This record gives sequence, C-alpha cells and structure tokens, in this order.
Amino acid sequence: MACYPEVLKAMSIQMISHRSEEYLKIHYDTVAKVREFIETDNPIYLFASAGTGFMEASVLNCVKEKMIVCVNGSFGKRFADVALAHARKIVKIAPPLGEPISPEVLDESLYENSDIEAVALTHNETSVGLINDLKTLTEVVKKHGKLVFVDAVSSMGGTELKTDDWGIDICFSSSQKCFGVPPGLAIGSVSKEALEKSKKMSGKGWYYDLCIWQRYHEEGRGTPMTSTIPQINGLKSALEMIEENGGKKWYFDLYKKRNNKIRKGIETMGLSTFPKQGYESPTVSCINAPAGSSGPDFYNDMRDQGFELAQGYGELREQTFRIGNMGFIKEDDINDMLDAMKNVIDKSTTPII
Ligand SMILES: Cc1ncc(COP(=O)(O)O)c(C=O)c1O
Repeated sequence: MACYPEVLKAMSIQMISHRSEEYLKIHYDTVAKVREFIETDNPIYLFASAGTGFMEASVLNCVKEKMIVCVNGSFGKRFADVALAHARKIVKIAPPLGEPISPEVLDESLYENSDIEAVALTHNETSVGLINDLKTLTEVVKKHGKLVFVDAVSSMGGTELKTDDWGIDICFSSSQKCFGVPPGLAIGSVSKEALEKSKKMSGKGWYYDLCIWQRYHEEGRGTPMTSTIPQINGLKSALEMIEENGGKKWYFDLYKKRNNKIRKGIETMGLSTFPKQGYESPTVSCINAPAGSSGPDFYNDMRDQGFELAQGYGELREQTFRIGNMGFIKEDDINDMLDAMKNVIDKSTTPII
C-alpha cells in the first residue's frame, strides 16, 4: 500500500523520547482521533507490532478455554491458528469460500456452544475480497452475552465501524492498510468487559497484557514500552488530512468511488469478482483471472506493464488476483491501471497470425 505524502513527511521528524511531553501530546491526540473515527469511548492501545499482535492479545487476555472463530479465508484462519497455538479450543464457522458468515449459523453455534467465551470475526476478509455484515453478526453475539473480537485490519478507515453501538469488545487494525501509513503499528480499542476478563487471566505474558496497557493509558504515560513514534505521528497526520478534507464521510466516499471505478472497469472487460454478490469488499477487489490465464500469470503480465497488483491469496492463489484501493492512490493511477489491464487482456485474446 502506498503512503500519503503528508504521512511520510510527518514520519521524518527528529526522534523524541516516548516519555517526553511532546510525544505524549502526539500519542493522546492520535488516540482521541482514532476513538472518534471508530466511534468508541473505549481506550485505544497502540502496539509496536503488526495487527496480528491484537489477535494474540485477544486470545491471551480474554479466552481461557474456548472460543468461536469465524473463518471466511486466510485471515480468519490465522485467528484460529493463533488460538490453537495457545492451546485454546475452537469452534470454527467456515462457510464455503466467497460466502459471508450467516447470522443464523452463528446464532445456532452460540446456542450449541454456550460454554464459549468469545467470538472472533473478520470484518473484511482481504484474502477473498469479502465484507461481512458486521452490525448483524455482532448483534447476534451480544444477544448471547459473549465477548466479540473484530479483525478490522482492512476495513478500519475504509468503511463504517461503529465500535460501541455494535458492542465490539476488541476492534483492531494495522497502520499499513486504509490509513496509508507504513507498517509496524497495531491500533485497537478494548472494552471494559474485555479488561475485566483480562484481570482474572493468568499466563498472559507481559508484552500483550491489556491490564498493563490500560494502566499506562490511564496514568497518561502512553505505552508501557517504546512507541513506534514515526508511525504514530504518521497516523495522526493521516487523520488530520481526512479531517481537513471533510471528515470520515469524505474518506469513505473516496473509497467507494475508487472501488466502484475498479469494479466497473473490470466488468466492462468481461471480468468478475470472486465473492458472493452483495458482499464485495469496499477496500480490495478479488478478481477471477480471465479465461485462459491464471492469477499469477495475470499478476506478472501487469507487473510487466509497470503495475503491482496483489496476487491471489491462500487457496485462491491460482484462480484470482486482487486490486486493493487502500492508502494513497490518485484517480489517474486507477485509470492508467485499467488501461494497462485492457492491454493485457487484448493481447491475450488477439490471435497471432
Ligand atoms: C484481514 C486481515 N487480518 C489480518 C492481517 C494481518 O495483518 P498484519 O500483517 O498487520 O499482522 C491482514 C493483513 O493483510 C488482513 O488483511
């Protein structure tokens, strides 16, 4: 994902101590902006880790024995792998690839497994370009009074997230996706209920102990260990850039506009997207490779034209390729990319005489 020029500039400040007054102002300004953006009164912790760190933290702090993991693709599978790596029992809900999590199936599973402590959901499954109906799914979980963890890595910033209204206990993302900031920062909100559970948990280690993160947060000390100051200042500048342009509605509309342009463009070339209709992601399009080509071939042909798309992921590697519309993209870049795609398709369908 390309980063906004404003962000790169903000990241190049001279380094200051993460205990300094200057840093703490940057830290809490950023936290306040993220809270407003994802509509929560919960604290926001800024881990010096990839987003996956929050999967690990959710399991270690809030699941003693058993949880439900909803799997729409590779990143849902990763959440399940993290839970298994910590010897937790999991109940997997895994519809066929390309289909969303069904609220009815989730409800049934919650009745059948009333001993589970939490449910993990992937809002936007980047590997298959699918978005789940998070509002409805979280309502189901809350009806059963369980904790809900949301992997919002490729949705936070690109589409609506009403963290408190939807009752999300842990809602996390990574810097390198919709906010257009380099990797290295995990951003997540944590509810009181999740913190209460964490208080009672043993064996949660230190780095991801949410009670320690909360203590530093509420004492006005920022992070327990050295912060990723460049990324945090970069995130602050991305959020300021969004505010200056009209706020999050402007940003979500921009994502929709980019995404529609890509989807319409590929449709006019006779291509189609992989997920079930109505569940296509607003931030990444997973596209079926043209007849006679494979995902990797098409990806390489586009590289030859000077465009770096994303390869298909996991089980879909051979049959799809992906086009993200996250981070810093100019409208002309999308037009040029679609022209290049047309060239590649025309070349592959023009008979050689
Ligand atoms: C939906 C989703 N979850 C989790 C991850 C992992 O994020 P990270 O590499 O920041 O740990 C990704 C990365 O692309 C993702 O798209």
